[in-house]
Amino acid sequence: MIISKKMNSALNEQVGNEFGASLQYVSIAAYFSGEGLTELANHFYQQASEERDHAMRFVKYVVDAGGKLEIPAVKAPKGAFKSVAEAVKLSLDWEQTVTRQINDLVDLSTKEGDHITANFLNWFVNEQLEELTTMDNLLKVVKLAGDNLLYVEEYVARHGITKNDGGTGQAAGE
Ligand SMILES: [Fe+2]
Ligand SMILES: [Fe+2]
Repeated sequence: MIISKKMNSALNEQVGNEFGASLQYVSIAAYFSGEGLTELANHFYQQASEERDHAMRFVKYVVDAGGKLEIPAVKAPKGAFKSVAEAVKLSLDWEQTVTRQINDLVDLSTKEGDHITANFLNWFVNEQLEELTTMDNLLKVVKLAGDNLLYVEEYVARHGITKNDGGTGQAAGE
C-alpha cells in the first residue's frame, strides 16, 4: 500500500466532503432554477458535476494506492435560502472550507514524507485557487447587482464561468 492507514482514512473523509459539496450545489442550483435564474442554475449544476468528479478523483486514487475505500455518510445539504446572496455566500464558505481540508491533506502528506500523495493533491491545490476566485467574483457581482438579478444572469452568461466539460450533458451550453 502506497499510503498510510491515516492517509487512507483522511482521503476517504475527503471523498465524503466532495460528494457533500456536489449535493450542496445541486440543492443551490435547484433553488436558482425555481427562482427563474437559469444561468445561475446551470452554473451550479455544473459545479455539482465538477465536485462529483473531484470525489471520483479521490476514489480512484485511494484504489490505485492500494487503500481501502470507505465512503462516509454525507450530511444533507441546506435546501432553503432567503436570497441569491445567501446561497452564493454559502458556496464561497464551502470552497474556503474545502481549501482548508485540501491544505490539511497536503500537510499530512508532507509530515509523512508521502510525495506521491502530495503530487496527487497538487491538482486540487490549483483547482481551489480557481474555485475560490470564481465564487468570490460571483459574490461581488451579486452584491453589486442588488435587486437586479438579471444583471447577475447576464454576468454568468457573458463570462462563461460555466465550463463545458463537466459530464452531466445538461448543465453547460443549454
Ligand atoms: Fe471540490
Ligand atoms: Fe469546489
